[in-house]
Amino acid sequence: MKISVATAKKRKRADALILPFWDGKKGAEAAFSLSRLATLTKLPVKVGDFKGSEGETLFLYLSGQPEKRLLLLGLGKQKSFSAESVRRSFSAAVRACQRKKCAQVNLFLPETEMEMGCLARALSEGVLLANYTFDLYKKRASGESEKQPLIESLSLIGGDKICAAEFARSQKIISGVYKARDLVNGNADDVYAQTLAQEAKDLAKEFSGVKTTVLSKSQLEKEKMGLLLAVNRGAMRDPALIVLEYRGDARSKDVTGIVGKGVSFDTGGINLKPRGSIEDMKADMSGAATVLGTIRAAAALKLKKNIIGVIPAVENAIDANSYKPGDVYQSREGKTVEIADTDAEGRLILADALSYLQDNYKVSRIIDLATLTGSIVVALGEEASGLFSNRDDLAKQIEAASEKTAERVWRMPLIAEYKEYLKSTIADMKNVGGARKGGSIVAALFLQEFIKPGMPWAHLDIAGTAYLSELKRPYHPTLATGVGVRLLIEFLESLE
Ligand code: BES
Ligand code: ZN
Ligand code: ZN
Repeated sequence: MKISVATAKKRKRADALILPFWDGKKGAEAAFSLSRLATLTKLPVKVGDFKGSEGETLFLYLSGQPEKRLLLLGLGKQKSFSAESVRRSFSAAVRACQRKKCAQVNLFLPETEMEMGCLARALSEGVLLANYTFDLYKKRASGESEKQPLIESLSLIGGDKICAAEFARSQKIISGVYKARDLVNGNADDVYAQTLAQEAKDLAKEFSGVKTTVLSKSQLEKEKMGLLLAVNRGAMRDPALIVLEYRGDARSKDVTGIVGKGVSFDTGGINLKPRGSIEDMKADMSGAATVLGTIRAAAALKLKKNIIGVIPAVENAIDANSYKPGDVYQSREGKTVEIADTDAEGRLILADALSYLQDNYKVSRIIDLATLTGSIVVALGEEASGLFSNRDDLAKQIEAASEKTAERVWRMPLIAEYKEYLKSTIADMKNVGGARKGGSIVAALFLQEFIKPGMPWAHLDIAGTAYLSELKRPYHPTLATGVGVRLLIEFLESLE
């Protein structure tokens, strides 16, 4: 989307003019006088057809204006105005414009007590997050396209330099969100280990600050990544371990490790998933997509931080060669694991990835992201990711980033007593306990077994938030949300 700024008098021709105002008469009048449309547009508010509640929209058709239509946009009550209400209302306006195929749009910036920078940041996020579509698979035999039109250019009426700079920043971050969504929305058969590896290589080509290394199957064998290799045994394609290095601050030794689960499809393996649980499993590489999206965003922003991204990429397929329940495999770290359930594969590949990261790179902290358990969806639903951490300060920093981005997280406890469930009679540990009790906690405890003493670590279980069962937030136009990219960038920026 092309962004420009203009004044009310000098605004260009467009398909629509977005005119935001508050819930209530006073707010409405202020907006109208600002746009000098007072005499023409008092009507809908007086009649009561339009109140100005958050995200409410109404098209009006006026003559003598540079725009074909006027879109009234409700911002809700001025008292409850927040960054998130700005994101939501402006994304509703974007959706309304898309429905009318408006390519060129003018937007009046609302008068608020909020600082211009804060307003522009939230507004740009709402607009850009909503102006996304995934129509790769929408094709008609007749050749006519079913594609969702997007806004191509947006002119900010009353905008200044700060406003333009905030839009530029958001465009870079949200390019990472788009990338993550594209990868998750894509077919499982189109997005797999080698596709993710290619994405990582493309990133290194596009940005000089990024270096990509891909470990092939034979290298993984040399590394003795027994758990990762076991999970991929039933798959047609080779596994890969993808390592992305982004050095944004050569003078600093501070490095954040980010690790993302990359299961291109999770059948459950021999413990096959039933109908109702298996359909969304192309999204089981969402953690990997978030890592790729975050590194893209960081590189585009020229963020002055150092990041190491690690992606274990496999497919948990079912086949004569699949790894078997009851068998024991050895991890790269050395511990042996009895496979109590082949569907608890995420923790297995993450264990080997975490061990590789800690042995080969000096990291100051590790954050992993994984669509790890159905239990976290039961506990928190689709609005919040589960946050587990062995350090309160790290958890607090992530929570602060979550507040700012409205990518909600909820801290979950690492209850050490539940390690009991992971005890095995034949191996050093099992990959799951017998019952489902505290499933997301047990999964996190398994990962913690592969974190070295003293290493600050946080685990985000994004099983509920990465891929939705239905569309809810107005700025999530597809089931894949790209969750984690904005959160991690905000977190990284907050590090001193
Ligand atoms: N990929 C799933 C978790 C998942 C569930 C992601 C729902 C997204 C939505 C994971 O590999 C899995 O199958 N976990 C099992 C663990 C169990 C066997 C202990 C689960 O949650 O049922
Ligand atoms: Zn699974
Ligand atoms: Zn899985």
